[in-house]
Amino acid sequence: MRFDFEGMSPVARFEVLTGAVVPRPIALVTSLDAAGRLNAAPYSFFAPLAIDPPLLAIGVLPHPEGRLKDTGLNVLATGELVVNMVAGRLAEAMNLTCIDAPPGVDEAALAGLAVSPSERVAPPRLADSPVAFECRLHQAIEPGPDQAILLVRVLLVHVADACVIGGADSPAIDTPALDLIGSMHGARWYARTSDLFALDRPTWAEWIRKPGR
Ligand SMILES: Cc1cc2nc3c(=O)[nH]c(=O)nc-3n(C[C@H](O)[C@H](O)[C@H](O)COP(=O)(O)O)c2cc1C
Repeated sequence: MRFDFEGMSPVARFEVLTGAVVPRPIALVTSLDAAGRLNAAPYSFFAPLAIDPPLLAIGVLPHPEGRLKDTGLNVLATGELVVNMVAGRLAEAMNLTCIDAPPGVDEAALAGLAVSPSERVAPPRLADSPVAFECRLHQAIEPGPDQAILLVRVLLVHVADACVIGGADSPAIDTPALDLIGSMHGARWYARTSDLFALDRPTWAEWIRKPGR
């Protein structure tokens, strides 16, 4: 089966992309509008893209009403946001924040998500999120009408103490302890990150010494 994207509708392309690129991490983004009202919404067109500068990318698709979604509007207006990662215990609340509420509705409050003040940016972070990235807009790309690809620079990261291992000299994230979930196919399937396996990265020097190669 071939899917020729040139002749397909955006909705059909969405089904293929989200059906095949899985699992996708979920950025539960908190932002403020120009009047200072809090907004929260999940985004799984989301990835870390660079470390120097440290950049995350978020894809804001068009709102069905034919406008930019509130997260896009807010980040373009204020330049600030927090990317909160989603643990399994937050799944239902996260899902509630995607509700198509009108601009100005605080979806964090609606979903019963408590907030804590951020240090470097004005939008608060979600208190129960195991990881929260305080970010500033680095560059916005407009791939088409009513859309935005937000490249955002990470300024500061909060990680729950219970999810940090190692001493004060060499702290590291205990990733399994984060219990993050990912977005899967369709609009309602999710994955846990508990089914893990490990592979060592190959090096050429070891490869050429392998007997029987
Ligand atoms: C798990 C999940 C992931 C989502 N990912 C995206 C995404 O990457 N881009 C997007 O435009 N909408 C995405 N949505 C839909 C938005 O969250 C939804 O349109 C929301 O109402 C936008 O809120 P806002 O207008 O307050 O930004 C996602 C929804 C869910 C539940």
